[in-house]
Amino acid sequence: MRVCVIGTGYVGLVTGVCLSHIGHHVICIDNNEEKVKLMKSGQSPIYEPGLSELMHSCMEAGRLEFTSDLAAGVDHGEILFIAVGTPALPTGESDTRYVEAVARGIGENLNGGYKVIVNKSTVPIGSGDWVRMIVMDGLAKREDSPRDVEFDVVSNPEFLREGSAVYDTFNPDRIVLGSNNDKAIAMMQELYQPLVDRKFADDPSLPPVPVVVTDLNSAEMIKYAANAFLATKISFINEVANICDRVGADVTQVAAGIGLDSRIGNKFLQAGIGWGGSCFPKDVLALIHTATDYNYETELLNAAVSVNKRQRLIAVEKLQQELKILKGKTIGLLGLTFKPDTDDMRDAPALIIIEQLNRLGAKIKAYDPIVSQSGLSHGLSNVLIETDAEMLADSCDALVLVTDWKEFLSLNYGKMAQVMANPVIIDGRNFLDRSKLEMAGFHYVGIGR
Ligand code: UDX
Repeated sequence: MRVCVIGTGYVGLVTGVCLSHIGHHVICIDNNEEKVKLMKSGQSPIYEPGLSELMHSCMEAGRLEFTSDLAAGVDHGEILFIAVGTPALPTGESDTRYVEAVARGIGENLNGGYKVIVNKSTVPIGSGDWVRMIVMDGLAKREDSPRDVEFDVVSNPEFLREGSAVYDTFNPDRIVLGSNNDKAIAMMQELYQPLVDRKFADDPSLPPVPVVVTDLNSAEMIKYAANAFLATKISFINEVANICDRVGADVTQVAAGIGLDSRIGNKFLQAGIGWGGSCFPKDVLALIHTATDYNYETELLNAAVSVNKRQRLIAVEKLQQELKILKGKTIGLLGLTFKPDTDDMRDAPALIIIEQLNRLGAKIKAYDPIVSQSGLSHGLSNVLIETDAEMLADSCDALVLVTDWKEFLSLNYGKMAQVMANPVIIDGRNFLDRSKLEMAGFHYVGIGR
């Protein structure tokens, strides 16, 4: 099928590349010329495992193109994806101005034939109808007023995780399609059929991927509810971890014990320094904001957010317990990004930890496999970025594992302990092997264990 994806952020680019890989002819649009130039040369503007390789092969096969020409993209696609950002405004509300601009642009460029306009961006509930209105508005302002233009809007929320975005796209748990129009749903089903049939999945023998067809508002709500549930699940286990710390229990054992109950499930029960990233913080706040707009006060979601705020400072509190005064002490951070296998620093717990350490007068050094390599410091103030994890330990009073990058499992901790006067490590993700660290000479402090 002919597909146009507007917006080449994480969601848009991964969607475009993966749809092209499964056989569709995709044009990706971005209004950032620099980015388009980069992508045209076969380079991915984001770090995402496996993405560049797929990009190359699809471009070579002639099924993937990049342009800033919206008219050309709209003309090409029978299915038009809106995949631009909806960042949070200071009030917590989603900033939908980019979605609005794209919807208007689509209206201004629609030329004959039936099109499905798909909301892939996470948009406030009710945006499906609003997008239809804006497209109509764009159409109405045209002088040529084309006659045979026909379109429907579908909400198709995205559940991919950064760092495993390609894997998640080919191995989805479900596909959600929200619309009250059968023709639009049928076209979306045709688009996704290869994924439904698991033709590109790691395990093609599994039963077909469930397709959940709903009305527009429910599809939009599914996305918010899924993210809010997962964020709450993490805040829940973090609260349990804080109690474990006080009563002398081990949250990793507790999580294993409760996770075996199939009603609870074992995923997203890793206690640590809290959730961050481009989705959870923004989407939970947006849902709270929507509820408030409709005169409902969200008690559980408010609590999930406040537990998370406090949790980000747990590592600093533990440093204070171990080192007492932090003024003048040197703290080494292992990892900076909000999670491993990404270069994304949006709402990363590291930012709050750094802010607090700065406030307390500590000196900060950091090593992150991606941030150190890229040479970008992401505007971090008073942080010395090291290019080698093992060198990081030199002259540090304590280390904090902030991001659970795999390579941190196999560092030479013996060597690192030797260059520290009093080796302490706060494992902010309960990720490292405690006995291995203790054998290497570290005083190991986990979260809730
Ligand atoms: C999330 C959702 O998982 C995805 O479905 C949605 O489309 C976008 O938001 P992402 O932000 O990429 O994906 O990361 P995810 O792997 O979900 O982790 C989010 C945060 O929670 C990270 O900071 C991570 O470190 C933290 N986390 C995750 C925990 O602290 N404990 C866990 O058990 C799992």
